[in-house]
This record gives sequence, C-alpha cells and structure tokens, in this order.
Amino acid sequence: MSQHYSSIHSVEKFLTGEETAAVIDALDVAIGAAADGFDIRQAPERSVHEITGHSPADTVEVFEPAGRTEMRHLPSEAIAVLNTASDRALPKIQAVFPFAEGIGDWIYIDYGPGQFVTPHIDYPSDPSCPGLVKYAAISVTLQHATKGGEFFVETISDPDQRDSDGRVLRDLHWADRDFRERSRTRWLVRPGLGDAILWGTEVSHGTRPVHQGCERKLIAFVQAGNAAAMG
Ligand SMILES: [Fe+2]
Repeated sequence: MSQHYSSIHSVEKFLTGEETAAVIDALDVAIGAAADGFDIRQAPERSVHEITGHSPADTVEVFEPAGRTEMRHLPSEAIAVLNTASDRALPKIQAVFPFAEGIGDWIYIDYGPGQFVTPHIDYPSDPSCPGLVKYAAISVTLQHATKGGEFFVETISDPDQRDSDGRVLRDLHWADRDFRERSRTRWLVRPGLGDAILWGTEVSHGTRPVHQGCERKLIAFVQAGNAAAMG
C-alpha cells in the first residue's frame, strides 16, 4: 500500500554531539586521503543513482549536474558509531514505518558552492536486489552550509503521478519532462545537527544549491529484507 512509502518522520538527536564529532573526524581523515576527494564527477560509475539506458556520466548530469562528494564505503570508526545509533533509533523509526527491520549501508555526501541534487524518487524496490523493501530514506545532518543547501520534500496531487494502483510511476527524475513540469508543493527543512529526517521512498525530494559553505550529511535506507513484509 502506497502510504507505507509516503510518510515523513524524524528522530531528534539520532547522533549525540560527541558521536557527530567522532563521525566527522573519521570522514575527514578518509576524504583527506582520497586523491579525488570522492567527487562524483571524477568517478560517476560510483554514483548511487541509476537511470535505465543512461551512462553513469549522463546519470550524474541529471541528478547532480554540478557534482557532489559521495563516499560509498565509510571508515570503520564511523560505521561503528552509526550502528549503535541505528539500533537505538529503530523503535522510534518503527512508530511510523512499522515494517522496517533495520537501516542499510550508510553513505556520506556533501554539497559545496553551486552543488545540489535535482528532485527525484528513490522507490521501495530495486530490481537488482529482489526481496529487499526500502520504506524510507534516512538522512543525518552533520554540518549545514552557511547559505543555501536546504533539503526539501515535495507533495504532488496530480493523479498522473501515480498508476491505477496508487503507486508512484517508475523512473521519475529531472530528465523526465512530465515529472519536471508537474505542479508540486515543496517543503523545505533545516534539521538540527545530529538529527535524522526520514521520507518515504515514494516521496519526491532534493537539495537546493549551496551558495556558501558546505552541507554535509549521511544517508541510508530504512528497509526490510523480506518481500513478504510489504504491506
Ligand atoms: Fe534520493
């Protein structure tokens, strides 16, 4: 049922101040040691986004045309902190996403001046991982840009956004003209540092361009490993 993938939620103090600082320290070491600083334009094949029929470089052009930092494999010190925080937060997450069994692998992203991500939908299922159901994305803010970089979700009531079962159409991203031109209401949010925000995997979302500073966050999916858990 589509409402399982359309909710929004938050977990305040997902990371304590001390945990947030520890994660940032571990990430900074890894970023400093990387030759390309994890700039997604340098290695588009590492992008989390995919569009059927598009090359990785074309896909990055659709989602993050000005690039972004994207680290897929976090340092073990950061993973340990996030695992502890995830276990602690799971009951709070299940209050809104009752079928969620846990949180998948975390990735780190940041947006510097001029960088942003275009509106898109993440989707509950991934053809390359049958049996996995993603209920929501979760994002933990580590640092806000000093200007711009606001995250947003979008609500769209146009029935053309959904199929006859009420499910959001597949492959909705900024290269799709119908999706791009559809009327929408955009809800901006500025979460507290260390707080987690969650949005269902059928909810359109994106990040506005950063004008100054750097917007830094961790993202993952709240999911279940059993297709039978789907409501
Ligand atoms: Fe996304």
